Amino acid sequence: MSTRTLSLTRRPAWKALAAHHKKIQGRTLRHLFADDPQRAKRLSLEAVGLFLDYSKNRIASGTMPLLLKLARESGLRGRIDAMFAGEKINLTENRAVLHVALRAPRGVVLRVDGKNVVPDVHAVLAKMEAFAQRIRRGTWTGHTGKRIRHIVNIGIGGSDLGPVMAYEALKHYSQRGLNFRFVSNVDGADFVEAVRDLDPAETLFIVSSKTFTTQETMTNAQSARRWLLRGLGGNPRAVAKHFVAVSTNAAKVEAFGIDPANMFGFWDWVGGRYSMDSAIGLSTMLAIGPKQYRAMLAGFHEMDEHFRTVPFERNLPVLMALLSVWNTNFLGAETVAVLPYENYLKRFPAYLQQLTMESNGKHVTLEGRTVDYQTSPVYWGEPGTNGQHSFYQLIHQGTRLIPCDFIAFAHALTPLGAHHDLLLANVFAQAEALAFGKTAAEVRAEGVAESLVPHRVFEGNRPSNTLLAARLTPAVLGRLVALYEHIVFTQGAIWSVNPFDQWGVELGKALAQRIVPELESRKLPRLQHDSSTNQLIRRYRALRARP
Ligand code: F6P
Repeated sequence: MSTRTLSLTRRPAWKALAAHHKKIQGRTLRHLFADDPQRAKRLSLEAVGLFLDYSKNRIASGTMPLLLKLARESGLRGRIDAMFAGEKINLTENRAVLHVALRAPRGVVLRVDGKNVVPDVHAVLAKMEAFAQRIRRGTWTGHTGKRIRHIVNIGIGGSDLGPVMAYEALKHYSQRGLNFRFVSNVDGADFVEAVRDLDPAETLFIVSSKTFTTQETMTNAQSARRWLLRGLGGNPRAVAKHFVAVSTNAAKVEAFGIDPANMFGFWDWVGGRYSMDSAIGLSTMLAIGPKQYRAMLAGFHEMDEHFRTVPFERNLPVLMALLSVWNTNFLGAETVAVLPYENYLKRFPAYLQQLTMESNGKHVTLEGRTVDYQTSPVYWGEPGTNGQHSFYQLIHQGTRLIPCDFIAFAHALTPLGAHHDLLLANVFAQAEALAFGKTAAEVRAEGVAESLVPHRVFEGNRPSNTLLAARLTPAVLGRLVALYEHIVFTQGAIWSVNPFDQWGVELGKALAQRIVPELESRKLPRLQHDSSTNQLIRRYRALRARP
């Protein structure tokens, strides 16, 4: 029997890792660093412009070789090759997984069902570029002849989080005369606040939805159409000048009333959470322009090539994924904090939440067997230094183990006095404090009163990675996103789950559809939910009936 077909916890490397963990668990980061003056050098790596220091993880000399063995026993190489070969590795939806084709340079051949998809990708990119130039130069005008100044992306999940994250991340490179808003929530406040101060004559809506059936997006798009027509005198012909769509579903786009000429397509082999560099990135291209957008795609592609070709021992996504498996499955960590020390990356943790948790938040294997190990940890975070004055207390002195990914850059995009050195001093200090802490003896040596000593002790031994790059450019953003995409892929391969479906969001959607008429009907219908849901519906109706 090949090791790949053995369930994860029965693979030899898994068993060896469990034994290894028992053997080394008493050795803290203080010991590990004291024993090996070369540790930082040995456990760091530079590739495609990203420097990763992973020496502050709780790993000893035998740990990485065993984790790498686990990757091999899990068939990671075969899975990477299958993805790049366009095989239908999204088994439950019978789809290929080929977001890497979105950033493949012209000339690369990547096939789905025997057809090279790269020319199609470049055709859409060319269409996006022509449109972006018209908007950016002001030659695309609205219904009344005014130039477009406001762009509102309407979408949710992968059709929102990527665009909003990328817009914030790359704002420094954006055309400041264009004003970008993002509407996702079906809560009407999101739409109302987004358009409150906008002139409909100068506003373009990008309706972004892979399926063009998502309730939230369709509801917001309808409200946008009403708002626009109200503001422009009601002529339905105005829609063509103020609405474009990004979707895989041409029929539904047309049914909505958007001119198919103004639709930018993508394909079912692009998952929603892997789509920020497809036409879903239209708002990003409008903001930063085609040249910088191409630079971002080139960054993605560099990381794809690194992931595809570099041996696992020096492969950034593979190493980071294996460390997360170690922390999750052997050290018992339940979350990962992603802490960018770069304010422009403020939405990066939110973006990663969907990428990681919608992908690997699974409890059955590809074969449908319930797992007997943990899968995706919870990813969360905030930009530094804000987090330091909020939740870092728990990371330093709480009872849980929270591995951290620190992300920092050598150059500020907007240098201002001493700010950047202060920022970087903080990120280095946090990783140092988490790893090495402060012992009771050290606290006492500072003359602290005995009663306060336990409160002032930092246990340390908290693991972290630090990623350092020169500066946040479109290319670096592409590399960073692709890094985490491939971390997720590698984790999925080890945990034997399908990172590309999301059935877990279906039940709630279906139940909501059932409840809508129960809230909207004039007379209370016979409710057949559980007593709690029935009670909430009745209470809502009663409260709503009162002025
Ligand atoms: O939340 C489920 C989901 O299907 C996500 O995977 C997706 O990104 C989001 O809804 C939006 O879907 P669509 O782009 O089809 O509107």
